[in-house]
Amino acid sequence: MSETAVLALENVSHAYDRVGVIDEVSFTVAPGELVGLLGPSGSGKTTLLRLVAGLEGLQEGRILINGQPVADGVVHVPPEKRGVGLVFQEGALFPHLTVAENVAFGLAGLKGAERRGRALEVLEQVGMAAYAGSYPHVLSGGQQQRVALARALAPAPRLLLLDEPFTGLDAKLRGEIRDETLHILKDSGTTTLIVTHDPEEAMYMVDRIVLLSDGSIAQSGVPEELYCHPISTFVAEFFSSINRISGVVKGNSIETPFGLVAAGEMPDGTEVDVLIRPEAVRVTPLGTGGEGGDGDAVEARVITARRLRRASYIHLCIGTFEGEHLHFHSRVPARYLPRDDETVNVRLDHSQIFIFPADEAR
Ligand SMILES: Nc1ncnc2c1ncn2[C@@H]1O[C@H](COP(=O)(O)OP(=O)(O)OP(=O)(O)O)[C@@H](O)[C@H]1O
Ligand SMILES: [Mg+2]
Repeated sequence: MSETAVLALENVSHAYDRVGVIDEVSFTVAPGELVGLLGPSGSGKTTLLRLVAGLEGLQEGRILINGQPVADGVVHVPPEKRGVGLVFQEGALFPHLTVAENVAFGLAGLKGAERRGRALEVLEQVGMAAYAGSYPHVLSGGQQQRVALARALAPAPRLLLLDEPFTGLDAKLRGEIRDETLHILKDSGTTTLIVTHDPEEAMYMVDRIVLLSDGSIAQSGVPEELYCHPISTFVAEFFSSINRISGVVKGNSIETPFGLVAAGEMPDGTEVDVLIRPEAVRVTPLGTGGEGGDGDAVEARVITARRLRRASYIHLCIGTFEGEHLHFHSRVPARYLPRDDETVNVRLDHSQIFIFPADEAR
């Protein structure tokens, strides 16, 4: 028998003032698993988290924790009885309580020394024990986030819910804290559902992603699955800016300025979008043979090239059959940075090209 999921959502739908915002969402979170709930702003992430926490009444479907219904047409287990820990972005600390008192707040079941002992234990875990007697206002944003995490972890929740817990921190601190948080959650084996709209953060932290689009699941799976095998234009575009060419299937392939690309199963005449990740556009100096990539190299002109941290980002101009010019982006390892206006060789890595029926909405 498979292990009982810590969290299960079954066909959950939700509307505010009769406007539907969640549509038939089902997914599970296994014991010890870290699942990321992703999606653009307004896609329903916070609503789902509030439904799981019990802060929002369930309208349709069923939510189970450890196999027991906590919300369905009949049952509504109140938030404090669900054994769920919460960290919201705005889930600020109580300003009039010390750090230790903030953490002890959720430990109503324990008394005196035991309560204080447990609070200190989790503060130790998040590296904040030295601040036990301090008040929140003397802490930095990152330190406050760590205390908020400690407060949520203190009662050893069956399930931890984090809603964009790192927003408001600068990029470097954010990176550090998400790394620390990942290790704390994995070391303690805490089952976690974390909301983020940042795909890089999700890929860094989570075991599995549930990606929402307009209140429905667009795709779910391990991060590599969504990145390398997206099932729609929406999913492919969510993880990085991506080059897009329109085309028509003819004889199992599609003609592009880079040569023919395979069309898979799509019938002749289908209008398609060909999506090409910037790292699949291999750029090399002219005359080097253009190693890497598939098919013949074509020439392109560098509009401009910028060195980012680990990569160079190259804006290219390439001629099409119709005599138009296509603006294209390439990402290559930072050791290579072509000059502006230089003519270069370009080849595509066909394993990172995705083809979907043309998106009518565009
Ligand atoms: N209390 C509410 N009353 C009415 N509409 C709401 C309420 N809360 C959210 N909504 C609407 O429901 C939709 C989903 O909102 P939700 O907050 O769940 O999105 P989100 O994915 O968390 O977005 P963000 O990334 O911006 O936090 C949005 O269209 C929002 O305007
Ligand atoms: Mg939200």
